[in-house]
Amino acid sequence: MDRTAFFDALWRRYRTLTPQADAIQAGLLGRGEVVINDHIALRSLAQTPFDLDGIERLLQTIGYSELDQYTFPEKHLDARAYRCVDDPDAPKIFVSTLRRGVLSRDCERELDVVAEGLADAPFALDTLTKGPCWSPVSYTTFEQLASESEYAGWLAAWGLQANHFTVSVNALRTLAGLEAVNDWIKSQGFALNQSGGEIKGSAAVLLAQSSTCADHVDYAFGCGTKTSIPSCFYEFAERFPDASGALFQGFVAANATHIFESTHRQQ
Ligand code: NI
Repeated sequence: MDRTAFFDALWRRYRTLTPQADAIQAGLLGRGEVVINDHIALRSLAQTPFDLDGIERLLQTIGYSELDQYTFPEKHLDARAYRCVDDPDAPKIFVSTLRRGVLSRDCERELDVVAEGLADAPFALDTLTKGPCWSPVSYTTFEQLASESEYAGWLAAWGLQANHFTVSVNALRTLAGLEAVNDWIKSQGFALNQSGGEIKGSAAVLLAQSSTCADHVDYAFGCGTKTSIPSCFYEFAERFPDASGALFQGFVAANATHIFESTHRQQ
């Protein structure tokens, strides 16, 4: 699987679960906009073949190398960002994982199901694009996990796939800056994640971001219950030049901690 096929596969699954992203992209293109992805994000589980080291090995096969590392102690998450060495315009990739041994014993047992699925899945890029590689969890399990860690609930339901795509605000031509983008998004009827304020970050930290609240889509749980739960969201990122004059390419943990909350059940 090459880089293009990887991103195409991620987008195909993401757009089916995120109707708002399709609608927003179509709206932007309708304005004559240039839609370029700043980055995409993946979620996974520590101490599995698809932990940060494992996913890093897979991303290296399509030319990606590590840009930086981040920790989110309150959310029990660790993350790394990657960029494509040969193509600075290729989307960056942000990968996070949930630490093990931090939730209650019941929840850790439920996460064992996820870990076993990841252990049995083919160790290939393709696996990162397909969603859960385990039997659907029960609604009770989802609720129990989400009550202790919204991230854990989301991961058990949706697995390995793009959690969000991110529009590069710098590449837009008709909307000048993130505030203008946010105003347009809201004028189209989409809700923005308000955690930490509508805009996370600023020129002072070289990165400003906003995101929609995740779509809610129908989900068929393993117990037979069907109900709608948060799927994925769309993000918007504006980058600012660092001291060298080049656009900052990294991420800001204080921004990301609020962006994670775009998939919370109560948004
Ligand atoms: Ni992001």
